[in-house]
Amino acid sequence: IRPIRIAPSILSADFSRLGDEVRAIDAGGADYIHVDVMDGHFVPNISFGAVVMKAIRAVTTKPFDVHLMISPADAYLADFAAGGADIITIHAEAGPHLHRSLQAIRALGKKAGVALNPATPVSAIQHVIDDVDLVLVMSVNPGFGGQSFIPEALNKLRQAKALIGARPIDLEVDGGVTAANARAIADAGANVLVAGSSIFAGNDASTYAGRIAAIREA
Ligand code: DX5
Ligand code: ZN
Repeated sequence: IRPIRIAPSILSADFSRLGDEVRAIDAGGADYIHVDVMDGHFVPNISFGAVVMKAIRAVTTKPFDVHLMISPADAYLADFAAGGADIITIHAEAGPHLHRSLQAIRALGKKAGVALNPATPVSAIQHVIDDVDLVLVMSVNPGFGGQSFIPEALNKLRQAKALIGARPIDLEVDGGVTAANARAIADAGANVLVAGSSIFAGNDASTYAGRIAAIREA
């Protein structure tokens, strides 16, 4: 059993006060800082890139869990590595050479993650499972915060957990995670829980510690 990690997604932070928001989730008990990068091409939304990520690197020592929703990703991996990413996750659907891209991340000295969209089967990563440090099961269609958890993701988590077996690989879930469904998610095998809107709603820093604790305790 790997320890449960809570990874608040700064996509739902107040971007006009991004540094303070990151400090607040750090102080509130976040284990990882989940950084959602969107290109308006792989997903129908644009967020921010390595320049913005690098700007907040100095305000926390917590690991940066960088979720690249971009295609192609390869040309940008070095920028995210240099900017302070600790885990770099790419989508299995984002390019034709997933194995090469995962190797490129590890060659940069970073942990390599692979993400699966809701319609992508676990079998898509069967042959690269020994090349990853983290598997990310999307429980919404990527592109936006605040969507509802897709229940089928629980079945996919169980399948991904079976594929991982005894390997030291984190199993992360992203999208629609709340204190109400966190228990079922953990029971299905996930140990890294991303949460955006359920932590940042209202953007009131005084609420963050309680919300992070509520997910963890669930
Ligand atoms: C979705 C992102 C998620 C998102 C999660 O494209 O990858 O990380 O911000 O937000 P919530 O928790 O609000 O679904
Ligand atoms: Zn994400």
